[in-house]
Amino acid sequence: MFLGMVVVLSLVFIVVRVVVSKPPSEVKLAEIPAGEYDPAVWGRFYPLEYESYRKNLDMAASPTGYGGSLKVQHSIKQKEILMNFKGMAFSKDYTEDRGHPYAMEDIKGTKRITSMSPGACMTCKTVHLIDIYRDMGWKYAKAPISELFPKIKHPIVCANCHDPATMSLRIVNPAFIEAMQKKGIDVKKASREEMRSYVCGQCHVEYYFEPDTSKLIFPWDKGFHPEEIYNYYAGKPFGFEQDWIHPDSQAKMLKAQHPEFETWSNGNHGKAGVSCADCHMPYMREKGQKYTSHWVSSPMKYAEASCRPCHSESVEWLLGRVKTIQNNVWQLQHTAGTTIARAHDVIKKVSAYSRVDLTELNRARELVRKAQWYWDFVAAENSMGFHNPAQVLNILGQSIDLAYQAIETANRAGGTNF
Ligand code: HEC
Ligand code: HEC
Ligand code: HEC
Ligand code: HEC
Repeated sequence: MFLGMVVVLSLVFIVVRVVVSKPPSEVKLAEIPAGEYDPAVWGRFYPLEYESYRKNLDMAASPTGYGGSLKVQHSIKQKEILMNFKGMAFSKDYTEDRGHPYAMEDIKGTKRITSMSPGACMTCKTVHLIDIYRDMGWKYAKAPISELFPKIKHPIVCANCHDPATMSLRIVNPAFIEAMQKKGIDVKKASREEMRSYVCGQCHVEYYFEPDTSKLIFPWDKGFHPEEIYNYYAGKPFGFEQDWIHPDSQAKMLKAQHPEFETWSNGNHGKAGVSCADCHMPYMREKGQKYTSHWVSSPMKYAEASCRPCHSESVEWLLGRVKTIQNNVWQLQHTAGTTIARAHDVIKKVSAYSRVDLTELNRARELVRKAQWYWDFVAAENSMGFHNPAQVLNILGQSIDLAYQAIETANRAGGTNF
């Protein structure tokens, strides 16, 4: 009797798991015209997806204590940001990211942007990229962003990810298509599973602007690892050498931008084929209907739906694992950041001396450039290491070592002891 119950329960469990991991049945297609970008109009036909999309407007902290959707300045908890980004826009304003509907409001509001900033800056903020790129080609990238604002009404909406006629997932950012092409990948031939991460990879990535044209390029020719990307930049692609020169150390610096896609792709989940959507857009059930949640936020706000289809441990246990990873990463990130800040300062002090070995001093500058690239690759990534704990901790360890090497080398250059 008892054994019988166990068998029945196990069967039920297996069936539930299979059903949970399967996509909702056939979507009933609506006739939405190609240029219709208003999510409320799409919502008339796809109400469950639309209602969950509207939850992206919620602003709340995350149960992990990191991430979250509150617009707080990172420099409050990480003073080293002010030193390490001295002389460039990220020292003026650098807030936590929040939901997709805020993308246009936040880019218009940030002190990092002026009316003359390149149009390329709005690539990942709005659906109107589709028409702007169709009409102007890459020329839009160099146009002052204020010239493009009148063409823009909606932020990141349904049409960013969906073809309105078929509702299948699509890529609209030409920089992603070109970067993947260079790696020999035709995104038009991507599987449904791959598209569940590619749609996010159009925006949640490291990039740079080609000098002269401001064309948006993803630096992936050598691979997704921070060292491979560093080596790519060392080749001065299209004449691009640095994002800015640090005013204290005079080092030629690189700024990393939210490399979620790159970090995830080398991690355990990425390698196991767990997509961004698996965790950030889990399946939900309402009124007997199964659908994909379009509340794209910290998965720990809805961990039961995000993690439990694969992990049988309790939500509390999983949250504990995530917090442990993030606390470890936070500690090393902070150590790396503050040591780098010291390195900029030491190089500055040494360079004021008249009898300095300039070759050594330039070596110190190269070392702080690399140390900061490694630190920033983690700090600018939004998961506090969760997407790839092993790689992130390794890179932070190297960053701390490089920062101390920069300090030592600068002191050798000046015969000093700062
Ligand atoms: C950031 C990208 C993104 C945005 C923006 C987006 N979706 Fe989706 N949508 C997805 C993904 C990913 C899936 C899962 C598709 C799959 O697995 O094939 C999906 C699935 C769907 C489906 C199929 C049924 C289901 O629930 O799985 C519908 C319908 C849908 N979305 C409607 C919408 C509507 C309406 C909006 C705007 C309010 C929207 N989507 C905005 C990424 C997005
Ligand atoms: C068109 C570009 C674009 C696409 C496509 C896109 N994102 Fe985003 N995402 C952004 C931007 C920009 C922000 C920050 C918005 C802000 O802070 O105003 C953001 C914010 C987020 C956040 C933070 C939300 C919060 O509550 O803190 C998460 C999580 C996220 N995106 C995940 C995803 C996932 C997963 C996908 C794919 C299913 C995806 N994004 C697709 C550009 C994009
Ligand atoms: C195995 C699950 C999982 C996968 C797969 C995954 N993420 Fe995450 N993601 C997380 C967790 C957990 C966090 C940390 C959230 C927190 O601290 O509250 C996170 C954080 C984020 C954040 C910051 C959210 C915030 O609250 O500010 C962004 C943005 C993001 N992920 C994007 C992506 C993208 C893009 C992909 C695919 C390339 C991806 N994630 C793949 C679980 C996942
Ligand atoms: C689609 C299946 C799937 C989903 C969804 C998923 N995981 Fe995983 N998870 C895996 C696999 C596969 C591994 C690696 C192999 C293993 O350890 O069994 C893994 C490993 C882990 C690890 C070990 C450390 C690491 O990074 O490898 C943690 C912690 C973890 N997952 C937490 C989470 C959390 C938290 C969520 C929800 C936000 C989540 N997972 C969602 C499949 C999944």
